[in-house]
Amino acid sequence: MSGKVYLYPIWIRLWHWLNALLCLVLIFSGISMHYASPDATRIRFDLAVTMHNISGILLTANYIIFFLGNLFTGNGRNYLIQFRGFRQRMWKQIYYYAFGVFKKEEAPFPIGSARKFNPLQQVTYAVVMYFMVPMIFITGWALLFPQVIVSEWLGINGFAATDFLHILGGFGVSIFLVIHLYFATMGKKPTDHYKAMISGYHDDESEHESENDSEKNHI
Ligand code: HEM
Ligand code: HEM
Repeated sequence: MSGKVYLYPIWIRLWHWLNALLCLVLIFSGISMHYASPDATRIRFDLAVTMHNISGILLTANYIIFFLGNLFTGNGRNYLIQFRGFRQRMWKQIYYYAFGVFKKEEAPFPIGSARKFNPLQQVTYAVVMYFMVPMIFITGWALLFPQVIVSEWLGINGFAATDFLHILGGFGVSIFLVIHLYFATMGKKPTDHYKAMISGYHDDESEHESENDSEKNHI
């Protein structure tokens, strides 16, 4: 094993862990509001609403840091998907996660100084960060100020549609989180990626890399 590579600068780590914490609070308070009833034993309704609203506003502010950080540092390039050879790369990675990893095969897209995400991570992170999270906070803000929501569009109730999209996004992020936690255990050791997101340093796995040079993304 060669040396370490600095993958997660401090601003990404701070953004990421605050984002993770806020998402957890939003998921728990959101579920609690959704299943609220007079004899509910979950989080008290008014408390859940306050927690949800404050975390929602903080999540939006934190997202702006992520967005600007990616725009003005090289990190944004890791989220740019190259469509040439996309399907083959995806299958290689899916095969590796489904079988290769259990047969102790080498990762097809090792993480190193020239590539930060494997193809599956890249697509998932891009969809979650540039589609799902924005959809959640845009609909969340609309629910905070419902007077901005059109009352009816093509016979569909605007408030119900906004609420539906909000819950759909929340459901999506909850599913993503479970998958994310599992895949993050797939380093050389199960704790490697978690330690990397804390220290910033990741083992350079690209030492034995022989192919896919044109498919690398950037740190
Ligand atoms: C991971 C992120 C989030 C999840 C999982 C989530 C989930 C939920 C759920 C399940 C509900 C209940 C809806 C219902 O039962 O009809 C809800 C309501 C609501 N959410 Fe979110 N949400 C998230 C982020 C946000 C954000 C970022 C904002 C605002 C900026 C926000 C603002 C609201 C508002 C205003 C309501 C209506 C109840 C209230 O006044 O608090 N949410 N959310
Ligand atoms: C307790 C919750 C969470 C834990 C323990 C966790 C853990 C990790 C770890 C270990 C990594 C680095 C290794 C890897 O890419 O697999 C990572 C990266 C990442 N996580 Fe999470 N995560 C959590 C929640 C979230 C949530 C809720 C989101 C988005 C809504 C998210 C989005 C990301 C993104 C976008 C990256 C790559 C960041 C970059 O380098 O640009 N994570 N996470």
